Amino acid sequence: RADIGTAGVNTVSTANPAARVAPAGMSPADTGANGPVASMGWPALREAVHGCQACGLCHGRTQTVFGVGAERADWLVVGEAPGEQEDLRGEPFVGPAGQLLDAMLRAVGKDRQAPAGEQAVFIANVLKCRPPGNRNPTPDEVAQCEPYLRRQVELVQPKLILALGRFAVQALLNTSEPIGRLRQQVHRYQGVPVIVSYHPAYLLRALPEKAKAWQDLCLAMRVAEGQG
Ligand code: URA
Repeated sequence: RADIGTAGVNTVSTANPAARVAPAGMSPADTGANGPVASMGWPALREAVHGCQACGLCHGRTQTVFGVGAERADWLVVGEAPGEQEDLRGEPFVGPAGQLLDAMLRAVGKDRQAPAGEQAVFIANVLKCRPPGNRNPTPDEVAQCEPYLRRQVELVQPKLILALGRFAVQALLNTSEPIGRLRQQVHRYQGVPVIVSYHPAYLLRALPEKAKAWQDLCLAMRVAEGQG
């Protein structure tokens, strides 16, 4: 696979710490230029993601897509990976699926632009770089990127994680069970309640499933309010 192995082969050493390549078998958590990802604050974490070369996706990206929203928020939404528009704009969920996601979030009183408070939400992807041609993420790419998401969860301190689509669910819950079997239950990631739902790109193709996504949002609201 062209997308893995790069970290092991490319051992270029450079004066620019952000351009270091993680040795084979090591994730950025082990090699972060500013120390372990697990202890980074927001600025160091942003910088680490910006300069990440832990997998081959760094070669095809226009830019990394860190995430958007309030740095402390009750809700954290997790999608899959940047698509073409996200790669160009540097922001998650800005295409048609993103417009649907924004409408869904508005329906539950959340707004990606809210700086803090009840409306606040943080939106991130499992992968911070676009897979070429929007192909599916590989397990290695997910494993290399996971420390960043884990640290984002720790920093945001959400009351609720909304995992959208198969890859978010697989990465957070370490399961390959279909979403239909996992939704409408409260799961956990690092102790934080996780609600599973369909990816908005899927909902655009399967409009009848929107009713189920609404049920999932309602459960998420109850869980975030401690009534789930
Ligand atoms: N799909 C995702 O999962 N994330 C994005 O940022 C865009 C589309």
